[in-house]
Amino acid sequence: MNIPCVIALDGPAASGKGTISRLIADAYGFAHLDTGMLYRGVAWRILSVGGDPGDDELAAQNARSFSLEGINEGDIRTKEVGAAASVVAANPDVRAALLEFQRLFASNPPGGEKGAVLDGRDIGTVVCPDACVKFFVTASPEIRAHRRWRELVKVQPTLKERAVYEDLVQRDARDAARPDAPMRAAEDAELLDTTDLTIEAAFAAARRVIDGVFQRSKG
Ligand code: CDP
Repeated sequence: MNIPCVIALDGPAASGKGTISRLIADAYGFAHLDTGMLYRGVAWRILSVGGDPGDDELAAQNARSFSLEGINEGDIRTKEVGAAASVVAANPDVRAALLEFQRLFASNPPGGEKGAVLDGRDIGTVVCPDACVKFFVTASPEIRAHRRWRELVKVQPTLKERAVYEDLVQRDARDAARPDAPMRAAEDAELLDTTDLTIEAAFAAARRVIDGVFQRSKG
């Protein structure tokens, strides 16, 4: 039996990893999991009942009973849910509860796909350290804030780019500093800086790396 190939993309907020992941999944016929959705989903559930994302016991309970069912993309993409997600994501019990779901997705991609693309912060380091290809996708904080602001302002017209910038910088710092599964590049990850790249160019660069790995594993 062939072990499904996992492609891991990690990196800071709004670096482009989500879009590149979807393009990779489409191009290679792989399943895709945006693991940030899990942390956002847990955070959203807590916020929607007026709970405190910093309440460790409450966050752990929510993560243990978590399912993607009933989670609406539009609700979880806000800046507020992103900030709360990074608070719950620092909780080791939350991470432990979500780990199995992610590993199962990677080892048994839904729809019987032959591989899986997972994007997040700790995919190449903790969730799937044996991934066949790993990327760490970055871009300057200014460009990331600008990209994210352009997305969010469509639904939150009064949102200021500066507020998005401050939020991203704070969230990156929290994600990189937490003791459990901090955001960092795996030693064997390919760095992909998208600051000056269009999505097409970033995807083309990722594709060259993946094709090179696939070629070598055939030969
Ligand atoms: O889309 P964006 O890059 O803004 O963030 P996201 O991928 O949706 O993740 C939201 C938050 O979830 C992050 O700031 C992290 O705190 C957390 N997260 C994590 O800790 N580990 C992951 N594998 C994915 C997300």
